Amino acid sequence: MATSEPRVVGKSLPRMDGAGKVTGTAVYAADFALPGMLVGKVFRSTEPHARIVRLDTARARALPGVRAVMTAADVPDVRYGGALKDETVFARGRVRYVGQPVAAVAATTREAAEAALAAIEVVYAPLPAVLDLDAALAPGAPLIHEEWASYTAIPILHRDGNVCNRARIVVGDVERGFEEADRIFEHRFRTGMVHQGYTEPRAAVAAWDSSGQVTVWSNTQLPFEVQNTLAEILQMAPSKIRVVVPGIGGGFGGKLRVGVEHFAAFLARATGRPVKVITTSEEELTAAYPRQGTVVELKTGVTKDGRITAKAGRIWFDTGAFAGSGPGVASVATLVLAGPYKIPNLHLEGFAVYTNKTNCGSFRAPSGPQANFAVESQIDIIADALGLDPLELRLKNIVREGDEGPTGQVLNAVGLEECLRKAAAAIAWNDRRPARWRGKGLACGWWTTTGGSSGVYVKINPDGTVALNTGAAEIGTAALTGAAQVLAEELGVDLADINVVSADTFSTPFDFGAQGSRTAFAVGNACRAAVDDLKRRVFALAAAQLGVEPEACRLADKHVLADGKRISLADLARLSQQTGGGLIAQGTFIAPPTAYDSKRVDGHVYPAFHSPSFHAHAVDLSIDPETGDVTIHKYVVAQDVGFAMNPTYIEGQIEGGVAQGLGQALSEEIVYENGRVLNPNLTDYKMPTTLDMPRVETILVQHPSLVGPYGAKGVGEPPNIEPPAAVANAVASATALRLTSLPITAEHIALALRDAGT
Ligand code: MOS
Repeated sequence: MATSEPRVVGKSLPRMDGAGKVTGTAVYAADFALPGMLVGKVFRSTEPHARIVRLDTARARALPGVRAVMTAADVPDVRYGGALKDETVFARGRVRYVGQPVAAVAATTREAAEAALAAIEVVYAPLPAVLDLDAALAPGAPLIHEEWASYTAIPILHRDGNVCNRARIVVGDVERGFEEADRIFEHRFRTGMVHQGYTEPRAAVAAWDSSGQVTVWSNTQLPFEVQNTLAEILQMAPSKIRVVVPGIGGGFGGKLRVGVEHFAAFLARATGRPVKVITTSEEELTAAYPRQGTVVELKTGVTKDGRITAKAGRIWFDTGAFAGSGPGVASVATLVLAGPYKIPNLHLEGFAVYTNKTNCGSFRAPSGPQANFAVESQIDIIADALGLDPLELRLKNIVREGDEGPTGQVLNAVGLEECLRKAAAAIAWNDRRPARWRGKGLACGWWTTTGGSSGVYVKINPDGTVALNTGAAEIGTAALTGAAQVLAEELGVDLADINVVSADTFSTPFDFGAQGSRTAFAVGNACRAAVDDLKRRVFALAAAQLGVEPEACRLADKHVLADGKRISLADLARLSQQTGGGLIAQGTFIAPPTAYDSKRVDGHVYPAFHSPSFHAHAVDLSIDPETGDVTIHKYVVAQDVGFAMNPTYIEGQIEGGVAQGLGQALSEEIVYENGRVLNPNLTDYKMPTTLDMPRVETILVQHPSLVGPYGAKGVGEPPNIEPPAAVANAVASATALRLTSLPITAEHIALALRDAGT
């Protein structure tokens, strides 16, 4: 580790993937093409729940240009999935949501493929559909999966009929905690289903070679996960499946799981030609992996002076027709429900519930915004009821250095108080209602830096530049720039000397993948390990050349220096090519497990937050009382990032996370009626644009984590968590109305004001 001032880490250097993206030369999976490629399309269910009485593809097969039509009869009868294996490639005998794949076609043109879809004949016999959480949980509700008990699942899940997991945290004695309280507050919240809104649709090209090996070019965030899932689905050895990620136009959790890769692979095998499958906006908004809508119930006991004595909370995730990420997301939610607060008595439960809707998944800080919206809205309600300043109520209860998290983990590097005070000061919190119809709001939270292992190879090229070879994908966060900054710092080279080769299951080492705010953290640490390995080789070689001891050597300025002598990395790399196969090293990292009290958790897939981050958001806004329109004057994020590896890209992550969060807060929802999506297009599904975005002020707080490179913590997901709660609290402050359902649209505000007679 360098003893001098850092040269590369901590600097706002241009991101390595930037130039290609802004000049339009970067190749995304959606751009990827091969000669002779066919177009693949998916035929999808138009019924929320029905038996397939007849499925006839003969007419479609006979159309000109059509090369294959496949149904469940043409693929192995396997169920796949993450914690719970309940999915099939195509519906088998029964459809469970509008949008579920029933068949797929490959044709020479898009027009021919669409004609084939139109020519597939299907007759359904409708079954009673379960359209929301209440219906799914009602006694005697129809089962979405009658055979649920026979599915393969990880043993920790608690399943029962339409509930595909129930996760629980119990601490102390919640009933006694309520007895100690002076006031008890009970509220119910609701959040809508929202899409990740990645710019590039899901896309995959598959091609088979004569040895029976398939290569899939995909925009997945997790090439190794997709490789394994394809192995299950295709019933093949993973070593015959190569997944390559050419580039990703945003993922945000929506591209974690197999999306269209399996359709491309099956169709390519059936036709003997490369096949490309790419989704439409309508498919994205009806049949992707959006964020679950939720219902949250919170019961919180407090003393008169605002000390929280107990909290009971339940959150139900409408996870759709298959479990998807639901069992894990329901688990993570309980840690968010506890909040970044010290509460001696807790009884918290998260439920993942099947309904006849699209299969929900993961979205940037999965469960975070939904649970945080409830927790942080209620904190403001309690403060108002007790006549306390919401900032003071938070400061009275937040976790601090050395405190225990809800499951007993010991918290360190806790920058939460600093975040709260700085965010509040930045919006002049002391003047909370500067004008009529104007209000300010705060929200705070905590989040994890996801574990999992990362490996890298590092090679010194004969010109002295460096290849960083990683299994992680650059999903647009600039996290691989961050990892490369660590490598450049430790090797004594410049960032411009590093070239990244990434995300190819055949040629790059394993990585747990671009998910969970982990990439710069884990790949950065793997780079540090690789430099340790490389130093041994380089110093031995240099010592022999320079006539010094290896212990005297150090790396700086692209050279090995020792006893006033020097030799360049380029010379050493060339020397090694002649004598030792070149200079190459390996580094691996896996975050050490976080100790927690296992007696406090049950059915829990994610019992502790590793190297947690802490954050506070503050917003100053006005309402138009006629229209309900919200104008945000200022939005502030104070985030404890541990160490700001590259302040500019962290600011970019924060601005982007806030944009997505404001979408969920104010305008976005996939609206279902009778099991059908009413707004499956980007006109009626309203994401914010640059014109809607307020100025976002970023305050980077740095309490170095014990594990991250240079003290870094995960930064990508957190900024998406607090916007709904911060906005709801500011709207309440501006209008004296408390809206407990997301999104808080202008229409909802205007109607609530009218109903209140204001
Ligand atoms: Mo994230 S939701 O782990 O991409």
